[in-house]
Amino acid sequence: PQRIVVRDLASRLGVSAAELIKQLMKQNVMATITQEIPFEVATAVAENLGFTVQRPKSAEERFLEAKKSEASQQAGKLEPRPPVVTIMGHVDHGKTTLLDVIRKSRVAAEEYGGITQHIGAYQVEVQGRRITFLDTPGHEAFTSMRARGAQVTDIAVLVVAADDGVMPQTVEAIHHARAAGVPIIVAINKVDKPGASPDRVKQQLAEHELVAEEWGGDTVMVPVSALRKQGIDELLEMILLVADLRELKAPVDQPAQGVVIEAQLDRGRGPVATVLVKEGTLKVGDPVIVGAVPGRVRALLDDRGRPLQEAGPSTPAVVLGLSDVPQPGDSLMVTPDEETARRIAQERLEKQRAEQLRPTARMTLETLSKMA
Ligand code: GTP
Ligand code: MG
Repeated sequence: PQRIVVRDLASRLGVSAAELIKQLMKQNVMATITQEIPFEVATAVAENLGFTVQRPKSAEERFLEAKKSEASQQAGKLEPRPPVVTIMGHVDHGKTTLLDVIRKSRVAAEEYGGITQHIGAYQVEVQGRRITFLDTPGHEAFTSMRARGAQVTDIAVLVVAADDGVMPQTVEAIHHARAAGVPIIVAINKVDKPGASPDRVKQQLAEHELVAEEWGGDTVMVPVSALRKQGIDELLEMILLVADLRELKAPVDQPAQGVVIEAQLDRGRGPVATVLVKEGTLKVGDPVIVGAVPGRVRALLDDRGRPLQEAGPSTPAVVLGLSDVPQPGDSLMVTPDEETARRIAQERLEKQRAEQLRPTARMTLETLSKMA
């Protein structure tokens, strides 16, 4: 996108076109006087001629700078926010059942008999306080989000079946949570089963440096039965307790920033994204950039499909009004206007395209060096 015609560059630099073309040839660039050359090449030549080149700022850079100076002006206005909890654990140890029980036991009766749409995140209320659960228990989702810098989890609940004990994916989950610096609460599940042995689970976990409080360690472990709905209240209380230790806070009164939990194309509604708001407040009508997708929030829905006017920190919301389907892990930012969102989207798309081209170039080099 950023290119300049050789003749224009020459006149700006105050050299003859012939001189400039000669300089370009030294860089192995063959160009005529009317041809356009990329900004990078122009920069290199200009610098060879003793100029310093200032790259014009991208729309994204300008936006981020403005945001930064705004943020520094209103620093310190942090308010408590609900904890965001991810459920992890080995296959079949009961993650989904546990999430379902937590949700059902905490969702008002109005929903019974109604249709609950699945969304990737939901909130429950415990003792007048809210907890956000992420229904993306797959480790892959967790890891890929983290790899993309989208750290959304505050607390990991590690589900271990009391009959099965610690399994490979249990250990994997421990590593993921540790790498993310997230505290772990263990839910020892299926304690109703005949072969259940919570003590054996504790012993196995101790081998991985997760030592139960009652054994002198500092890891909260709660025996539960998702099937019999036992121990659920205790688990929720422990989540709140661990959350209190973290003193989770976020700015509320500013343009929102969030992360896409999941997204798909809906036949009637177009692109639909479940977004977890991390900072600020997302409002209907806000122009947004989500990954490389621009849009304007046409509607916000809560985890039960009810319309919201706004969503604050740690609140999951379904966002309608994007121009395309973003990727899980993509960040959402509210922009001052739609034009800024579109420009940033354009820049990001171009960057993505450039990055997609790079591996090919690398492969060619490798092939060449092999041939040499
Ligand atoms: P994946 O999503 O495949 O990794 O499994 P999951 O961890 O989500 O396990 P899920 O909730 O699907 O439960 C697996 C099986 O264990 C199901 O048949 C559940 O009914 C059963 N189960 C879950 N919790 C309990 C429990 O507390 N007690 C007993 N007895 N069975 C349970
Ligand atoms: Mg499951």
